[in-house]
Amino acid sequence: MLMFRRHLLPWLKVLLCQGLALAIVLALLPMLPEGWRFGPGWVLLFEGALAALFGLVLRLPRIFLPIQLFLPLLVLYSDALPGWAYLVAFLLCLLLYWNSATEQVPLYLTNGRTAAALAALARERGARSLADLGSGLGDVVVRVARACPDVAVAGIETAPLAFALSRLRVALARAGNARIHYRSLWDEDLAAYDLVYCFLSPVPMPKLYEKALREMRPGTLLVSNSFIVPDVAPERVIEVEDGRRTRLHVYRMRG
Ligand SMILES: C[S@@+](CC[C@H](N)C(=O)[O-])C[C@H]1O[C@@H](n2cnc3c(N)ncnc32)[C@H](O)[C@@H]1O
Repeated sequence: MLMFRRHLLPWLKVLLCQGLALAIVLALLPMLPEGWRFGPGWVLLFEGALAALFGLVLRLPRIFLPIQLFLPLLVLYSDALPGWAYLVAFLLCLLLYWNSATEQVPLYLTNGRTAAALAALARERGARSLADLGSGLGDVVVRVARACPDVAVAGIETAPLAFALSRLRVALARAGNARIHYRSLWDEDLAAYDLVYCFLSPVPMPKLYEKALREMRPGTLLVSNSFIVPDVAPERVIEVEDGRRTRLHVYRMRG
């Protein structure tokens, strides 16, 4: 059910928005006054903009805005792009979604409200150090580092493009308490952290919990966004009031 909501539902909404926008454009075109003529490019851009607007109403994640906007243009003019553009697009995707095939962990991002809830938890528990295992584009690292200047925040990432972009992001944010490391989360020593955050997928959770049990100190926290550790009761579940009703599963390490 969770996989349907997260992966399939947004694309079904995209299809719905595009279909609705196309129907409206086709209905409007014959009504245009004499002399109002637009090239197909402008019509398709208008259709994409309408679809993007519907996407906002349906609360699609913001990443779908540019997809909605340019999708009709790309469908019609796909053969106008040179062949190498597809190779470049493929390479960029490969460098960004590096861990999708091997670790079965794709890239999707923690939203602002969830990062704020995580920062509040770090403050409440007096954490001095926090790691985001698989830190993506560095959103969590930057937001928590800003909200908690006394906490040393580390992002651990191996997707080359995500790593480079998040490094740049941290440098631009001038957050002195934030760092991004190019390292596999499996090689990171979790003993260094008071709070370890992850937003991965169901696949690595059992192995990650075993690693946390081996390495993390008693009383420290493993917090998983959305994905549970099977057969382990969390100490607490934080329900975030965001569009996707995020649940943060908080596991406390026992002595
Ligand atoms: C769902 S994204 C979460 C991104 C970020 N933590 C956030 O919440 O916005 C998961 C990230 O984990 C990274 N990842 C997956 N396996 C990894 C590994 N073994 N070591 C480091 N990063 C990994 C992926 O490249 C991806 O960027």
